[in-house]
Amino acid sequence: MYITILGRQPAISIAELEQAYGDVRWFSDISALVETESVNVERLGGTQKAGLVIKKLPAGDWRKASLQIVQHYSKAWADYKGKITLGISAYGFGVSTRDIQKTGLILKSKLKGTEASLRLIPNQDEALSTATSHHNKLGLADNKIELLVVRGQNGIVIAESTGSQNITALAARDQGRPKRDAFVGMLPPKLAQIMVNLAGPLTVSPGSDLAQPRILDPFCGTGVILQEALLMRLGVYGTDLSEKMIRYSRDNLNWLQEKYMVKGHWYLHEGDAMDSQWQKPIDAVVTETYLGQPFSAPPSPAKLTEVRGNCNHIITEFLKNIGPQLNPGTPLVLAIPAWKSTDDRFTHLPLTENLEKLGYARTELKNVRADQLLYFRPDQVVARELLILTKI
Ligand SMILES: C[S@@+](CC[C@H](N)C(=O)[O-])C[C@H]1O[C@@H](n2cnc3c(N)ncnc32)[C@H](O)[C@@H]1O
Repeated sequence: MYITILGRQPAISIAELEQAYGDVRWFSDISALVETESVNVERLGGTQKAGLVIKKLPAGDWRKASLQIVQHYSKAWADYKGKITLGISAYGFGVSTRDIQKTGLILKSKLKGTEASLRLIPNQDEALSTATSHHNKLGLADNKIELLVVRGQNGIVIAESTGSQNITALAARDQGRPKRDAFVGMLPPKLAQIMVNLAGPLTVSPGSDLAQPRILDPFCGTGVILQEALLMRLGVYGTDLSEKMIRYSRDNLNWLQEKYMVKGHWYLHEGDAMDSQWQKPIDAVVTETYLGQPFSAPPSPAKLTEVRGNCNHIITEFLKNIGPQLNPGTPLVLAIPAWKSTDDRFTHLPLTENLEKLGYARTELKNVRADQLLYFRPDQVVARELLILTKI
């Protein structure tokens, strides 16, 4: 069993895990337990760290967790010959960094006289940042250990990290690509990964002559979703109304393939999502639709009515157009706009109330309600509402 430390928006992170792994449940408000053989953090946009659970304790405080750590590892490493780098990250204890360091120091003194030598990573905070974990390669070698010690409602979990999110690589994929466009918007690669995973495990559809399942992004813009999906070993198909965007996506995908040595099928062409005929196979649709214009402050009611009506029209017509072109059961993950007003409430698109009529069922998740899947930063007016649908 694995424990995962969830990202900035835990509800979205756990939804991603549930769709990717199935057997997932909350452990605390920032962590989840995942029943699986392995977790690949590099491919999860919403998970900061993952670790293999080695011990579960009934409720308790840091002292109790600390005793267990010292007991377990002074035994486990007594016969180890060589250097061990150790980081300890605590979550939900409200413990001082000094107390965490003390656990490491006690363990270090217990190992005196053995051939194991311990190098401790200092804690700036209760938990090491993902950057520190990654920089020290914690969880990526047998002698580079990070303990994830998490307090939940029903007890404590001690786990050995198997890796943390590589924010440097994510930033390089975002900022390094040759074509970016601030007006079209910058979908963070993390969110693109989340959206691809929200489609669930994909299989090659019957009759397909491709080796991999293929996802379609009919509003592909500069191709962030296509890039992340290619890296996840999926075939990708992008279309966009704008010829410029198709050129941008092409340049970005060429760059990605060269830089990251990824092979994989991709196909791009211009097209209006409201009347395009797409080529089969389409094993999933993953797309950030048209979001309307960006706003730095909540728009006036008249402006909001206009933009909302426009977006609703384009996305509704798109859903009507693509429905008959999809096999029943095909998953769709859409990021659509929702606008924050001055009282911090959100105005949604009317189409979210009409999905059944349009021929789509919302996917019900065990751990979160649909209205929790709203991706935004506190300073943003336009949020991305994530819809997980299945073609009926
Ligand atoms: C929010 S952007 C998507 C950005 C994209 N996720 C990326 O990685 O750059 C929406 C895109 O929808 C395109 N678009 C707008 N109306 C469209 C339509 N009717 N059919 C197809 N594409 C459309 C725009 O050209 C724009 O590239």
